Amino acid sequence: MISTGSVVDYAEKVRQLVKPERYEHILRVAELAAQIATANGLDQEKAYLAAILHDAARDLSAERLQQLAPPENDIERQNPLALHGRAGRRLAQEWGIEDEEVLEAIEGHVYGVGPEHKIGMALYIADVSEPGREVNHEIREMALAGQLEEAYQKAVICKVRYLQKKGIEPHPRTWAAYQALRPKTDEP
Ligand SMILES: [Fe+2]
Repeated sequence: MISTGSVVDYAEKVRQLVKPERYEHILRVAELAAQIATANGLDQEKAYLAAILHDAARDLSAERLQQLAPPENDIERQNPLALHGRAGRRLAQEWGIEDEEVLEAIEGHVYGVGPEHKIGMALYIADVSEPGREVNHEIREMALAGQLEEAYQKAVICKVRYLQKKGIEPHPRTWAAYQALRPKTDEP
């Protein structure tokens, strides 16, 4: 059980690290992630907390990002922003978060998560479809209608196609998340 007091404290820590417009995004993602969790029978407090923390490292300097999350491949070396999920996980750990579902969701909001990480899926969907982004309404509605996995699959496919269209090589873990998607045709 995550106490309300601690969520407020974490939110304040995050607010001090990010730009005001980022903080507004974070609050919208948190509201939506909690709604998606409820609609899919997941722990809404965990989803809310993961969302509050997900972009904690997003506005840090490249140096600080690299310090918190040393790059592991060329994509990360060339684009320090790709590190902000893993760096956010480190910050959350430093602040005392131990819940693996929450930590995995924070890290995975950038690359995607494995099929067993439902809180991570709720956060991933909320991040790409929160109302302020003005895109992916369909994905949001699917998730709010209880179709978490379908909505997540759609979100990952959209991301990979978007990157491919722009000629950007997806991060190996984005590829892994994409390839881990169960093809719809395999469903009974
Ligand atoms: Fe992010």
